[in-house]
Amino acid sequence: MEHEGPAASVPREERRRFLARISAFGTLLSGVMAGTVPLVAFLSPVLRKPVTKAWTRVVDDVNNVEVGVPFKVDFVEAVDDAWVQSRALRSVWLYTEDAVEFRAMSGVCTHLGCSVGFDAEKQQFHCPCHHGLFDMKTGAVLGGPPPRGLDTLPVKVENGEVHIQYQTFRAGIDAKVEV
Ligand code: FES
Repeated sequence: MEHEGPAASVPREERRRFLARISAFGTLLSGVMAGTVPLVAFLSPVLRKPVTKAWTRVVDDVNNVEVGVPFKVDFVEAVDDAWVQSRALRSVWLYTEDAVEFRAMSGVCTHLGCSVGFDAEKQQFHCPCHHGLFDMKTGAVLGGPPPRGLDTLPVKVENGEVHIQYQTFRAGIDAKVEV
């Protein structure tokens, strides 16, 4: 009977080392892949799950709205940013002169994001944080530090109801950049 000597154990030892290396490489590769895909998706908005913007009904009957004076609507919106689902309270200012055409303006100040109010006496929007002033019809800046007018939002009238598409924009810059 032939015994396995040192010469026969060399290939077996090499094979064991080779398999150990392959196994370690596989573990390393899956670890890298597991970490890389979410990281790339996080860093690149293009790779994130597209967020469908929903229309939100903010007025039930256009016949009941005040014409020629901005009015505020508050609502709760479900927010899905592809990673976390939550609910957020939103405020939008609506303005119409005929109850047919509406302008929807975000209630968030474009300076640093405070909530904008309406000064009925002066007929303009006023931000209490740093006294930003905005035109009540267009949202254009009338005074103070805001770098741009109030952000307008998509709005439509259907079956006597007003619907808006809420969006948020970056504060503190001239350009209207959605976030
Ligand atoms: S946050 Fe509105 S003026 Fe500064």
